[in-house]
Amino acid sequence: MAFCFWVLLLFVTNIVLISAGRSGVVSQNLLQVKKQLKQLNKPAVKFIKSPDGDIIDCVHVSHQPAFDHPLMQNHTIQMRPTFHPEGVLGESTIKVSSSKSSKPIVTQLWHTKGSCPEGTIPMRRTKKKDLLRASTIKSYGKKVHKSIPQPPRSSDLDFISQSGHQHAIAYVEGDKYYGAKATLNVWEPKIQQPNEFSLSQIWILGGSFGEDLNSIEAGWQVSEDLYGDNNTRLFTYWTSDAYQATGCYNLLCSGFIQINNEIAMGASIYPVSGYQGSQYDINILLWKDPKEGNWWMQFGNNYVLGYWPAFLFPYLSDSASMIEWGGEVVNSESEGQHTSTQMGSGHFPDEGFGKASYFRNIQIVDGSNNLRDPKGIATFTEQPNCYDVKTGKMGDWGNYFYYGGPGRNPNCP
Ligand SMILES: *[C@@H]1O[C@H](CO)[C@@H](O)[C@H](O)[C@H]1NC(C)=O
Ligand SMILES: *[C@@H]1O[C@H](CO)[C@@H](O)[C@H](O)[C@H]1NC(C)=O
Repeated sequence: MAFCFWVLLLFVTNIVLISAGRSGVVSQNLLQVKKQLKQLNKPAVKFIKSPDGDIIDCVHVSHQPAFDHPLMQNHTIQMRPTFHPEGVLGESTIKVSSSKSSKPIVTQLWHTKGSCPEGTIPMRRTKKKDLLRASTIKSYGKKVHKSIPQPPRSSDLDFISQSGHQHAIAYVEGDKYYGAKATLNVWEPKIQQPNEFSLSQIWILGGSFGEDLNSIEAGWQVSEDLYGDNNTRLFTYWTSDAYQATGCYNLLCSGFIQINNEIAMGASIYPVSGYQGSQYDINILLWKDPKEGNWWMQFGNNYVLGYWPAFLFPYLSDSASMIEWGGEVVNSESEGQHTSTQMGSGHFPDEGFGKASYFRNIQIVDGSNNLRDPKGIATFTEQPNCYDVKTGKMGDWGNYFYYGGPGRNPNCP
């Protein structure tokens, strides 16, 4: 704590020094920080100090950020989906297929220090220093660049590399999709500099890649700008206007409605996979409730986290038109060289199991709300010498792919 305090003091001191003689600016800035923190953090029933330095606030479900939205004033929380693609929900709970794996289950680090009571949700507390890292206080929790991998039109590659984002993904399009699922192993990729990130996720997409893209995203990420460290964290993102005005990571704006009291968005995932060591993977399932139209998310086999209300996504109101799975990094090309920020394990797909990162059992939810193998899987990467992707199909793993890479290397200067 003392350390945090001094870091904070340093930050503040810096601002004071930089703007010496402009004290009005400083107090205005601090006032803005205070206001934004009040907006982002909600009154907690209790809080838990995670070993990684996070504070997890247990916030009453009805006090979560979603209800700041004017269109949510009269919303009745759905405490469970009306439908689950892995089996219609009966009397019993939402607990789906019991895990047969003898491996330790991947959860979150803060669980070692306590739990949130029923009727509350765990929220990672945003601190002053989180906001001070952002380019502007208001932009904290939002994506700064348009960053959607846009595989079909390779003539637009300029547009993609302009934004400095690089991808290695598998995707399907041209059908109606009502959800997607995958099991992906979790890593802690090295990030060259704080304004870069590395993530692995599922994208649910609708609308056009221009101004009105609707996107729901979930997976794991390392982002020093967002979290202040290099830990691997569970995250979600959404936008309904191609990353312009709407949307945010996790619960950092009004949008997602969480019902689960065990998993915190933006909290560290533990443990992570090691090169030639134990492999730890997580399941992510996203699906549309056919009755209410809401988009639900499940983490692991047991945790139904909550949902994005249907009204957020005009272009996903019937179905999604494209699903993508894979990795993304920011390449800021400092000093004119490709970044050495890693994607996935930081190793190329050729290295295979135990070394390369993977998505396995990738599936889509079809028009009859069943999980199915995706048809016509294609792949995309901007620079295969930096980050690559290789698909396959076999027994237990169904449709899978290895992806990732080290970034800068002799073939990717
Ligand atoms: C909420 O309900 C009140 C009373 O029925 C109504 O006047 C108001 O328009 C509703 N708000 C929204 C956003 O639907
Ligand atoms: C994150 O990792 C980078 C590169 O390995 C390192 O320079 C940086 O200090 C790390 N940040 C923190 C907060 O540990």
